[in-house]
Amino acid sequence: MTLLDGKSLADTIEKQLKTQIDSLKGNGVVPTLAVILVGKDPASCAYVNMKIKACERTGVACVAKKLPEDITQIDLLQIIKDLNADPQIDGILVQLPLPAHIETKSILEAIDPCKDVDGFHPFNAGRIFAGIEAFAPATPMGVMSLLEYYDISLKGKNVAIIGASNIVGKPLASLMLNAGATISICHILTKDIGFFTKNADIICVGVGKPGLIRADMVANGCVVIDIGINRLENGQLVGDVDFDAVSKKASFITPVPGGVGPMTIVSLLQNTLLAARKQKIEKIQKY
Ligand code: GUN
Repeated sequence: MTLLDGKSLADTIEKQLKTQIDSLKGNGVVPTLAVILVGKDPASCAYVNMKIKACERTGVACVAKKLPEDITQIDLLQIIKDLNADPQIDGILVQLPLPAHIETKSILEAIDPCKDVDGFHPFNAGRIFAGIEAFAPATPMGVMSLLEYYDISLKGKNVAIIGASNIVGKPLASLMLNAGATISICHILTKDIGFFTKNADIICVGVGKPGLIRADMVANGCVVIDIGINRLENGQLVGDVDFDAVSKKASFITPVPGGVGPMTIVSLLQNTLLAARKQKIEKIQKY
């Protein structure tokens, strides 16, 4: 069994990004990411802080907007409009989930697709679906980079994706389908997840349920990508896979922490650098 070491790969990519960003800065271009956090959800605060720190490490300028839980939709839309119009800002990220009184769809659609480094705007989501170059959401992009680095081909492979969110499951399915895999997407209404995982060469799971994937649900030699992050009552951070048991059957498996998480953050930075190059160097301001 080989551990898919996302932490180490993300560190390597970060170093490469820092070199590229330093060189852009020498030419007066500073990649700049606006990060919007609404409210004080502890997990969202932790994720946003990790993103801000990663910007600092690589030299991406970060404009953090920490907004009150009760901000109105109109005020939030105005902040996004202002960021869209600001030529210094290359990327805009709105941390999800948003409070219930805000319509997430309208907020994501308000972001200029050229600055949509999270890849959540339907324009970018549609392009990813169609296999056209676009900003891909960071977690699926991180998973693809990890598989590519470890030379795990998707061509002709059976993949089971557990979790059908717009953030992870659906875009990951598109990227993997476009790379030649056969995809099953399981979700909350799926009757027998084991039926799909047992027949899968590659299993990707991210639903937030510790121990969901057990050893009896996987084939010998499978590749296991654990996208879940759960904090147990004893404080331990675990994914959705029973790691100790499943790792005995898997050929490759991601640890949690240190697998997909760091790859997600570095993918966001890659998208931000791409956005800066397009807007500030190639001067592409509209698709
Ligand atoms: N909430 C959970 N994952 C993500 C993510 O990748 N980006 C944003 N903006 N919010 C999230």
